[in-house]
Amino acid sequence: MDTYILAIESSCDETSVSIVKNGKEEINTVVLSQMDTHANYGGVVPEIASRMHVENITMVIEECINKSGLSMDDITAIGVTYGPGLIGCLLVGVQAAITLSYVYNKPLIPVHHIAGHIYANNLVSDMKFPLIALVVSGGHTELILMDKDYSFKKIGGTLDDAVGECYDKVARVLKLPYPGGPLVDKLSYEGKDTYDLPLPLDDNTYNFSFSGIKSAVINLVHNEEQRGNEIRKADLACSFQNRVVTILVKKTLKALKEYHVENLIIAGGVSANSKIRSEFEQVCKANNVNLTIPNIKYCTDNAAMIAAAGYYAYKKGIRSGLDLKAKATTNLFE
Ligand code: KG4
Ligand code: ZN
Repeated sequence: MDTYILAIESSCDETSVSIVKNGKEEINTVVLSQMDTHANYGGVVPEIASRMHVENITMVIEECINKSGLSMDDITAIGVTYGPGLIGCLLVGVQAAITLSYVYNKPLIPVHHIAGHIYANNLVSDMKFPLIALVVSGGHTELILMDKDYSFKKIGGTLDDAVGECYDKVARVLKLPYPGGPLVDKLSYEGKDTYDLPLPLDDNTYNFSFSGIKSAVINLVHNEEQRGNEIRKADLACSFQNRVVTILVKKTLKALKEYHVENLIIAGGVSANSKIRSEFEQVCKANNVNLTIPNIKYCTDNAAMIAAAGYYAYKKGIRSGLDLKAKATTNLFE
């Protein structure tokens, strides 16, 4: 029998609801982004974000179901991002999911946000195991080993800033509007790699550190400003992006080789980055690695990825009572 998961994602500034069949076939997804509102403030304002989720959640749920051609009778279970994320935002999605679960008497499946990002890849093609997942988002930078579905083992991660966070801070110092990551990406193609920036944490571990390169960019900009020199923004964006992508590729390839894994998936908002996509495509081809990256629209936050992950959590027997708690921080690993 087919399994339909209706899932809700509200951990940051997107209110999203989706229905996915058997963890891979997207039936319908609605994503309502608040990005334009937060752009006025140069970043996500948590209080405004939670209020907007409250205003929109019911409408987004209704729209998703109405346009899916299904009714609540067809839904097998309700999935929801319970964390990590902004607590006020998570609470709205979790409360909505609890209510649906109670009213329609459906199982409630708690889904970790990063499990969602990883399973966005299952909407592209069936994930093959063992695999390594490189998770690069605004809040996470991790190398994860999966031997089977819904089993996550951390093999490395950032010791300080997440890569998306670093992109956004570099964008800010270059006076680019929020969210800056995609703009730094775009700008880098107009420049050359002429700035002498350090390669971040180029050691023998699987860990990353991006605070050094972030500080290097900030200091460089401030020093040049004080001297009255012009900053070649596109060159700086290009140099920064090259360094970041070089270290991501280097450590990921090392992990694939040392763990004898031939399948790589990339997940999280920064997997929309064009240099990450092109470099990984090239090196994976050269090294006979099977690469999957989500379609651009499923790189950033959405509920389709939560519904896909929710299906495998459901199959694994993961359930929550109606007392499900939202968690601002929570560990994915066993
Ligand atoms: O996964 P996501 O939507 O939210 C979190 O779970 O954190 O990721 C958002 C992050 C932001 O930092 C944004 O600047 C970054 O992903 N991002 C990019 C690109 N597109 C989104 N960073 C670099 N290049 C891009 N093309
Ligand atoms: Zn995310």
